[in-house]
Amino acid sequence: MSKIFIVGVTGGVGSRLAPKLLKSGHEVTGLYRNEEQEKFLKDLGVNPFFADLMDITTEDLIEATKGHDIIVFSAGAAGSGTNRTTVIDYETPVKLLKAAKVNNISRFYIVSAFMDSIRDKPRNKSFEHYIKMKRDADNEVVASNLDWVILRPGTLVTSEGDGLVNLQRAIPYGKVSRGNVASVLDALINEPSIKNEIFELVDGNSTISEAIKAVKR
Ligand SMILES: NC(=O)c1ccc[n+]([C@@H]2O[C@H](COP(=O)([O-])OP(=O)(O)OC[C@H]3O[C@@H](n4cnc5c(N)ncnc54)[C@H](OP(=O)(O)O)[C@@H]3O)[C@@H](O)[C@H]2O)c1
Repeated sequence: MSKIFIVGVTGGVGSRLAPKLLKSGHEVTGLYRNEEQEKFLKDLGVNPFFADLMDITTEDLIEATKGHDIIVFSAGAAGSGTNRTTVIDYETPVKLLKAAKVNNISRFYIVSAFMDSIRDKPRNKSFEHYIKMKRDADNEVVASNLDWVILRPGTLVTSEGDGLVNLQRAIPYGKVSRGNVASVLDALINEPSIKNEIFELVDGNSTISEAIKAVKR
């Protein structure tokens, strides 16, 4: 079983992922930024690590991630401005990659975005910036020497999901429930032979175990 450090643990995906990982027998540390989230994390069984991604340095993250085996990035600026998007969605994964290297943490999972998202709508500057930051972060992950998986979900919907997905290297754009994203991440983390892969994910017709089996090489 692994020691897993989650950035974005209080979010829609992260808060659904942590209990699944704990149930699988992993130990989970989660970064949080609001003091009132500490009890929520402790009640889940997550080791809380208090920090704000807008201030955190690579050195802080080296210290925080020491002793872990896996890093999961599922944070996001959630449309709170271009500067915050740059820092949270691009610079934080870059800092985490550096921390992973220093600490010999070989496995890295990142929740990215579906690059075709909302292509049928008029261009929006801040959304284009968000997609660029996600893409730039993915490029850094691919260039690292780590064992990584990049997960690119379609538009997220707040629901637990029915456990039926479409997961592949290229699929048509669609929506996906946050619960299904968490379940797929949990399944990928529990299948370490799947690495150095970029997957797109939407809700679909395959069970998660069928979907994972189908993408295994
Ligand atoms: N929205 C979509 O349709 C969509 C589509 C594809 C991919 N994605 C990506 O999917 C991932 C997960 O999305 P989600 O819906 O779970 O996100 P979410 O609910 O907005 O959660 C974002 C997480 O990031 C944390 N965070 C934000 N700013 C922070 C800061 N300054 N310091 C510390 N933590 C901070 C949040 O903490 P708090 O709880 O304190 O806010 C939360 O844990 C994100 O990377 C997102 O970009 C989203």
